[in-house]
Amino acid sequence: MSPLDAVHGVARELDEAGVPSPRVDAELLVAEVLGVSRSELYASDRALADGELARLQELVGRRRAREPLAYVLGEWGFRQLVLNVDGRALVPRPETEVVVERCLHHLRGLPAPRVLDVGTGSGAIALALADEHPGARVVAVDRSAAALALARENLARTGMAARVELRRGDLLDGLRGPFDLVVSNPPYVLPSEYDSLQPEIRLYEPFEAVVGDRVWERVARAARDALAPGGYLVLECGDGQAGDVAEGLAALGYEGVLCTPDLAGRDRVVEGQRP
Ligand SMILES: C[S@@+](CC[C@H](N)C(=O)[O-])C[C@H]1O[C@@H](n2cnc3c(N)ncnc32)[C@H](O)[C@@H]1O
Repeated sequence: MSPLDAVHGVARELDEAGVPSPRVDAELLVAEVLGVSRSELYASDRALADGELARLQELVGRRRAREPLAYVLGEWGFRQLVLNVDGRALVPRPETEVVVERCLHHLRGLPAPRVLDVGTGSGAIALALADEHPGARVVAVDRSAAALALARENLARTGMAARVELRRGDLLDGLRGPFDLVVSNPPYVLPSEYDSLQPEIRLYEPFEAVVGDRVWERVARAARDALAPGGYLVLECGDGQAGDVAEGLAALGYEGVLCTPDLAGRDRVVEGQRP
């Protein structure tokens, strides 16, 4: 079977299973078993070997069962990094890249900023910040031991152990700072919304990484004491929550509160400055 025939067949199977982007997923799965990039896929007309076909069927079966593509592939790009991803932590999302962008905006000009990432999951935000700001020292916290184990793998993979410290803990408990920046992508799907989520999230991503009610407010309250004067808090929030989060930050005394849209134009990042 040629790569093109394989892509057609897999795309049809994924479409039948209700996968939202069957063609792109098919291309990435076929590219994975051939060991080429998506753009190199069509340059090769080498037929898939039996072993490759068997592996493809295994991966397609998992994706048909609506396992997130990132988990099926086992790694995923985030900013300039490629990270290990699996069911121990949330798949890093494109909107979270905007969170990193806002953080870097505030860190520019600081030679050795101290940063705290609350709810680090795979380590995506913490590692991207350390990667893109060579002077940054980052503490990254999560209360999930499984997520931290994955973050530890990513810390080793990216070679930034000297500047990123991973800690198990509940929000900011025991962390004094002062930090120049506190960032968090806390769980923010309301319990009442959970049943309406797509199967990729409901069946595979950790519940405690997804569902939370006003966790941002607890982070924002604790961050007031942990931030240095003039330091920034940057939060990701759910679609439709930015207005509420922005009001909450202002009520807690944060200044210059600002919302930033994601690539789809929806406000998903809210930030404020400690006076
Ligand atoms: C939405 S995920 C974000 C993961 C990662 N930062 C990202 O952006 O891809 C939220 C993370 O917060 C962690 N978490 C939830 N409640 C927490 C708490 N009370 N204290 C520390 N971490 C918590 C979860 O285990 C999960 O890894």
